[in-house]
Amino acid sequence: MKLGVAILAAGQGTRMKSDLPKVLHPLADRPLLRHVVDTALELDLARFCIVHGHGGDQVRLALGDLDCDWAHQAERKGTGHALLQALPHLGDVDRVLVLYGDIPLIRAATLRRLLEVARQASLGVLTAFLPDPGGYGRIVRDHEGRVRRIVEEKDASEAELAIDEINTGFLIADRVALADWLGRLGNDNAQGEYYLTDIIAMAAAEGRAIATTQPEKSEEILGVNDRIQLADLERRFQARIARDLMQTGVSLRDPARLDVRGHLQVGRDVSIDINCLFEGEVVLGDEVTIGPNCYLRDCVIGAHTQVLANSVIEEARVGTQARIGPFSRLRPQADLADEVHVGNFVEIKKAQIGQGTKISHLSYIGDAQVGSGVNIGAGTITCNYDGVNKHLTRIGNGAFIGSNTALVAPVTVGEGATIGAGSVIGRDTPPHKLTLTRAPQRTIEQWQKPVKKRI
Ligand code: UD1
Ligand code: MG
Repeated sequence: MKLGVAILAAGQGTRMKSDLPKVLHPLADRPLLRHVVDTALELDLARFCIVHGHGGDQVRLALGDLDCDWAHQAERKGTGHALLQALPHLGDVDRVLVLYGDIPLIRAATLRRLLEVARQASLGVLTAFLPDPGGYGRIVRDHEGRVRRIVEEKDASEAELAIDEINTGFLIADRVALADWLGRLGNDNAQGEYYLTDIIAMAAAEGRAIATTQPEKSEEILGVNDRIQLADLERRFQARIARDLMQTGVSLRDPARLDVRGHLQVGRDVSIDINCLFEGEVVLGDEVTIGPNCYLRDCVIGAHTQVLANSVIEEARVGTQARIGPFSRLRPQADLADEVHVGNFVEIKKAQIGQGTKISHLSYIGDAQVGSGVNIGAGTITCNYDGVNKHLTRIGNGAFIGSNTALVAPVTVGEGATIGAGSVIGRDTPPHKLTLTRAPQRTIEQWQKPVKKRI
């Protein structure tokens, strides 16, 4: 059976009070609509169409890379009218699954179950039992428990309002029957809209089977109407990621204080302390530990490496058994080999750092090639920028750079060389020699400490 998916996303989102269309507001850095699309793509679908309206071009552009059909609903006339716009784009599919651009937490497993229970039916509706059903359409069943119709809250009687089984909005329908039902919808109701939900009564009147099932968790059906709900769904989504990570064997000191906005790939026995944020594609090797308050974006951290508190790592690579932080900053193209130690207030940008090299305190290493076994003293700066161009600093294996050294690039420090503390090195230094630039120290013997003047 060929499946078509229609995503309704033409709503205005007035309560977001935003210039950005509602479905483009981000959840974990991905537009709401993108979440729904990605879930839909987990299904085996033949065609798929997004109904857009408000902020239409913006929505299309934001998801421009997507291989799907777009239907434009110029005027918001209701969910039934919206779905009608999608139908011509779905071709000859057998069944149509309806999703919503502003209900992002729906799981593919739930949708598969809906497809499954409705296999023999013309219509399948995802319903939920809510202690407080306010705001939702209610499922009206007959004495034998068969679904008869859905009544919208604004059209419901006192007795119907008491029904606790609600319409989540998600449904699957036979395409040919759906086209017929949608063509016959009217808008004689409290909101003057073409209600998609009215097709349920039509199907029931024709004596067709209507299947129902429920999501595992009711959060799957929560929609976003304002920024408070958006923030609530963000936490629920993050909790879901945290649970998944713990299930794969990651230790989280507090699952409520973790944020992943992208994809976090982990080895065995990784442990993550509180308040860490991971963005983009982050890979953590076996037994990596991440200390509290770290920010990692698009980076790879080798096995057994420790990232200590308050470190920031962006577009960088760190080898195995390294130690980063506390308070280290690795910027784009920092490429650290195994067993490197980087300590507090060290910034590294576009630099290769060889195996076992130590940069323990207060340094800036940028545009550099640093060998292995190098020791870089506190306060060392690669002066990579002459105000116009960037230049390279090379430091040979086993070199020792004394504290507070300025390496004025382009410059090369030879293998095994030692640079005396406080030097300004502007010319290449030979290997295995001590080089330093330092005014000779002197003591003024006759000097006397001044005394305070009496007025
Ligand atoms: C709808 C259902 C209700 C259900 C609820 C679940 C109908 C008539 N009612 O009500 O039974 O309990 O969802 O959340 O279907 N949309 C368009 N074009 C339109 C109107 C809506 O694209 O002309 C889109 C919206 O962007 C939204 C979705 O359809 O994504 C649902 O619309 P909304 O106005 O939120 O419907 P509800 O009144 O919540
Ligand atoms: Mg709604």
